[in-house]
Amino acid sequence: MASMDTGRPETIVTRGGYPLHGELTVQGAKNSTLPLLAAALLCRGETVLHNCPQLSDVDAAVRILRRLGCRCVRRGNTLSVCADTMCRCDIPHAMMREMRSSIVFLGAILARAGEAVLSFPGGCELGPRPIDLHLSALRRLGAEIREEHGCLFCTAPKGLRGSHVALAFPSVGATENLILAAATAEGTTILTNAAREPEIEDLAGYLNQCGARIRGAGESCVIIEGLPTLTGTEYTVMPDRIAAATYMAAAAVTGGTILLKNVNSSHLLPVLSAFEETGCSLLQSGTELFLRAPERLLPVRHVRTMPYPGFPTDAQAPVMVMAAVGNGTSIFVENIFESRYKHAGELNRLGAKIKVEGKVAVIEGVPALSGAPVSAQELRGGAALVTAGLAAQGETQILNPAYIDRGYEHLEENLRRLGAEIYRI
Ligand code: EPZ
Repeated sequence: MASMDTGRPETIVTRGGYPLHGELTVQGAKNSTLPLLAAALLCRGETVLHNCPQLSDVDAAVRILRRLGCRCVRRGNTLSVCADTMCRCDIPHAMMREMRSSIVFLGAILARAGEAVLSFPGGCELGPRPIDLHLSALRRLGAEIREEHGCLFCTAPKGLRGSHVALAFPSVGATENLILAAATAEGTTILTNAAREPEIEDLAGYLNQCGARIRGAGESCVIIEGLPTLTGTEYTVMPDRIAAATYMAAAAVTGGTILLKNVNSSHLLPVLSAFEETGCSLLQSGTELFLRAPERLLPVRHVRTMPYPGFPTDAQAPVMVMAAVGNGTSIFVENIFESRYKHAGELNRLGAKIKVEGKVAVIEGVPALSGAPVSAQELRGGAALVTAGLAAQGETQILNPAYIDRGYEHLEENLRRLGAEIYRI
């Protein structure tokens, strides 16, 4: 909910102790919407994306498309994009800083315009975010990339040509960038050790509907047959599996129930088993998922974040809140990002007992958290602090909610409708 712009920093305030009950339709996936918007650059004519979440990261991506000369019109959760009038191939520093995942535009701009100038997306709140895998993959397709004065100058003097690309790590962004660059390249590209996240399948699903020939998306080996022209289409963004996990965690830590609609449970299997381990009962039918929390959560025992289909790193923070109030000790190992435990210190301010040592966090569950002022320092950690604030006794203030607005659509409104005491000042 947009608040009056007083210029003062906003704060989310919660009063804990109210079990959540009710139903919620899960938003469209942020991490699918962003690469889909980049993919629209490759297509002639109009692309209409349905179930687009209203998020600041999506707004940032729309600003980038408009700056490149594309026409973008948003009507609620439907976004229409036409790249026929694209007239630029550069993204300025300020826009890259605003959202480091703008790097996913590189492959599409290069494929469409034959050149691209992007400023180096700096690190982010999760630690250094290198793009070496993106660049080496694009170079395999014939891109020439110079890094100078913090800028990437990319050209494809002889056009992009299909090739065999083996990723050293199944990077989601590098996989997306390569698929976007290969879709209209000359010849066939074989990508091995590709990321298998569902968002990759969503991207390939859209591109194939635009006329592309991509096989194996969602598996480790993806084959992309380059075709010269793609035509825009109408497409619905997949449900956001991390937003789903976050709302489930909120119901779990408040001892409530929640009926999620428009959720794809097959995207959440390792997360669902973690919830069941804590004593939550889950009922899944079609695109609906019902969760009932136990009186007191059991510990989560062991969480190791891994590339898909392993436990998703984005769900680590919300699930850590469950462990913080679980009846026992849990051990988390964060294998994907270097510093993705910033929320642990903030949870300890709420009375949690979490010890972090490098990639490992040991969480000794406590009977209850108690409210205090805490600060969001990145998107999922911030959402975890809100989740904790719903369970903590008394009042919790969460500063820097702008981080949370990047990935959660109407968060306070949705939680209020489920019975939470939450508002923004
Ligand atoms: C995507 O980030 C998501 N973002 C992240 O979600 C998610 O956490 C991540 O995938 C893993 O699932 C979007 O889709 C917009 P990676 P991405 O490339 O593509 C290292 C959220 O909260 N790496 O798979 O950046 C990297 O440093 C966000 O919604 C290299 O070393 O993730 C990291 O340690 C946070 N070199 C690891 O790989 C590279 O060239 C995974 O990164 C690229 C990545």
